[in-house]
Amino acid sequence: MDKKVRHYLQVADLDRQSLLGLIERAIELKEMRKKGIDYMPATGKVVGMLFEKASTRTRISFEAAMYQLGGSVSFMAKRDLQLDRGEPLADTARVLARYLDCLVVRTYGQHIVEELAKWSDIPVINGLTDAHHPCQILSDIMTVIEHKGSDLASLKVAWVGDGNNMAHSWIQAASRMGFPLYLACPAGYYPDEEILAKARAEASYPIEVTEDPVEAVRDADVINTDVWASMGQEDEALERKKVFEPYQLNEDLLKHAKADCIVLHCLPAHKGEEITEEVLEGPKSVVWDQAENKMHIHKAVLEWAMNLRD
Ligand code: CP
Ligand code: NVA
Repeated sequence: MDKKVRHYLQVADLDRQSLLGLIERAIELKEMRKKGIDYMPATGKVVGMLFEKASTRTRISFEAAMYQLGGSVSFMAKRDLQLDRGEPLADTARVLARYLDCLVVRTYGQHIVEELAKWSDIPVINGLTDAHHPCQILSDIMTVIEHKGSDLASLKVAWVGDGNNMAHSWIQAASRMGFPLYLACPAGYYPDEEILAKARAEASYPIEVTEDPVEAVRDADVINTDVWASMGQEDEALERKKVFEPYQLNEDLLKHAKADCIVLHCLPAHKGEEITEEVLEGPKSVVWDQAENKMHIHKAVLEWAMNLRD
């Protein structure tokens, strides 16, 4: 990867200071927006959004972020591009880089964003792959900081559910940003061993995986969950529903966490599956702030990637 181009493909691409810097900047940009201060450093810039999977939050919050920064967006569903008829990723990346200033990609394999980045001399930002969701995690941690303060190391963070793309981004974030993380996943649905091993090798705090959701959430300050079947796993949804049933985030499970814990979910939520309506809509849930923060984080990521600050 060309070091001069600011790609962001997974959390581990950035060091602690850069990750926390993006969150701090997003908090400033949020404050500016709330005060009605216009900030348009992206005038004349165009961001491409190449999406192969559905999206409500990531797509619209990136688009709104770019428009608010004074720039424009070109949305590309993969099925409408020659890419879908066999044009190589390398050719697509080199051509798009001649038109655009940054490319946000949502796709399946992590190798696809890596290949695009390899051939692109504009920044490539991962807007979700099967393996990582590195922008989402920044919004999540921004939300934690807003509700629990910036001393992340003092917080016990729990993950309950699938060892999926979001779990991987939490694992890398725990290692890079320094906080204890306890994941509860059913056997056979643990996070990727290599991602886990690399993160643990660098971590200053424990990153533990158990099959027991009570153990993971015991005295936790922050509890996360996500869908049981991610995009691309629709065929496994029924089978997963049975396996994941003991991992539902409900009032009974929450009794084991700290009384003032907060609940996060990157959304979309399947109420009655991974989370009950009572918990999602209850006083511990911060999911709507979390969704809003995606837009502020995306502004900070775009500003950094395109080097828009003086
Ligand atoms: N959380 C998130 O990435 O949502 P979308 O799939 O709607 O973009
Ligand atoms: N794990 C989910 C996250 C959606 C934002 C998925 O990949 O579908």
